[in-house]
Amino acid sequence: MISIKSTREIELMRNTCRLAASTLEYIEPFIKPGVSTEELNQLCHEYILKNGAYPSPLNYHGFPKSVCTSLNEVICHGIPSKKDVLKDGDILNIDVTTYLQKFHGDTNKTFYVGEVAPEIKKLVEVTYQCMREGIKQVRPGARIGDIGASIAEIAGDHGYGVVEEYCGHGIGREFHEEPQIVHVGKRGTGPEIKAGMTFTIEPMINLGRRHSRLLKDGWTVITQDGKASAQFEHTILVCEEGAGHEILTLRKEETA
Ligand code: MF3
Ligand code: CO
Ligand code: CO
Repeated sequence: MISIKSTREIELMRNTCRLAASTLEYIEPFIKPGVSTEELNQLCHEYILKNGAYPSPLNYHGFPKSVCTSLNEVICHGIPSKKDVLKDGDILNIDVTTYLQKFHGDTNKTFYVGEVAPEIKKLVEVTYQCMREGIKQVRPGARIGDIGASIAEIAGDHGYGVVEEYCGHGIGREFHEEPQIVHVGKRGTGPEIKAGMTFTIEPMINLGRRHSRLLKDGWTVITQDGKASAQFEHTILVCEEGAGHEILTLRKEETA
């Protein structure tokens, strides 16, 4: 069952999503060589609590921290650690999910640490473009398959691998709801997109091949070939005909 949010529920989704977005804005200036991912986790944790919310990842199926921090070849679900100290040239994804007034808002961004190699920067830029092109497909009457098809097309043009084992998802009262939003696919297939749906689009794009491996900690997902991986995520609301969609986790630096 794919839930359709009421006007009141949409208002609450807007609130939690605004906080998730502002957490990424808040953490940005702290992302510098020498800082550990555990320190960044602690700062996000305090910011979210200070704003009256709870960090959804904390204790979610046993996840031990408040945000996910995925460095370089880590695709997703990296666990913040004192041992992971940022260095010049790294890329770091921070994935923030807030639980405010009984609703979840989910967003992530891949940040540069100091000066990043052109090849890696290109991967990050194209990954953002993939997410935005996926978002552009969202309007009532379109199909979920349109999203993945448009993402995979751009990634493929650059010779990048699209991760298939992890995907976007419906979101609301639950962290992960139906439908699944896979980042590959065929246009005109999958469930019909309807006004009032809220879901994430969060492509994970690999510099090399698409294949992933789960580490023994049970969470950290890395690329099999050890090459870099980038990701961006927004929570999207499907609007009535005309407007198409609204990006609920939009940051000030971004265009609507
Ligand atoms: N925020 C991730 C997502 O985009 C999920 C993280 S689950 C956790 O769906 F347990 F690792 F936090
Ligand atoms: Co998500
Ligand atoms: Co997320």
